[in-house]
Amino acid sequence: MKTLALSAGIAFTAAALALTSTATAESHVDPAIAGAIKARQAQMQLYAHNLGILGGMAQGKMDYDADAASAAASNLAALVQLNQSTYWPQGSDNASVEGTKALPAIWEDMAGVMEKGGAMVDAAIAMEAAAGNGLESLQGAMQALGGACGGCHQSYRQSNN
Ligand code: HEC
Repeated sequence: MKTLALSAGIAFTAAALALTSTATAESHVDPAIAGAIKARQAQMQLYAHNLGILGGMAQGKMDYDADAASAAASNLAALVQLNQSTYWPQGSDNASVEGTKALPAIWEDMAGVMEKGGAMVDAAIAMEAAAGNGLESLQGAMQALGGACGGCHQSYRQSNN
């Protein structure tokens, strides 16, 4: 009987501890920071969706369709020109909080980040002009655009390996 009571007590303590640690893990990220991280990741997902359509056509994995290409390119050109200043608050880097791959280098080298962002804006605007004018025209604008995404990721996003 004594043993049973003891082990029940241990089980209860373990459950209470598990509850405490879950609550701590969830509450230590400021909701404003967590929201900003979600917003910028959603923005990146919208980039990726539209770029995927253009890339699929450029690589011949998808039939070229001038209207669909123009729509994707116009979306992308609009998206890259949104004001993102509230998406990147101080303290939202991957050394400070979980759930992000944004490297601290972003906040240490804003000029560099702006340069990469600017290259993407230029490439997206060029793609918007090119995408509806035939497959070759789209293909001609693809390298600069894909390179602009990858160029920033290389310097400012934690790699997957
Ligand atoms: C100025 C820098 C920069 C540019 C330009 C950029 N990205 Fe990103 N991207 C990032 C950073 C930083 C992250 C990590 C964000 C995070 O985890 O908080 C990221 C994350 C992503 C993700 C993962 C999002 C998620 O759900 O976690 C995708 C997909 C992505 N980018 C696609 C793109 C595409 C496509 C382009 C080009 C059209 C692009 N990015 C251009 C910096 C950039």
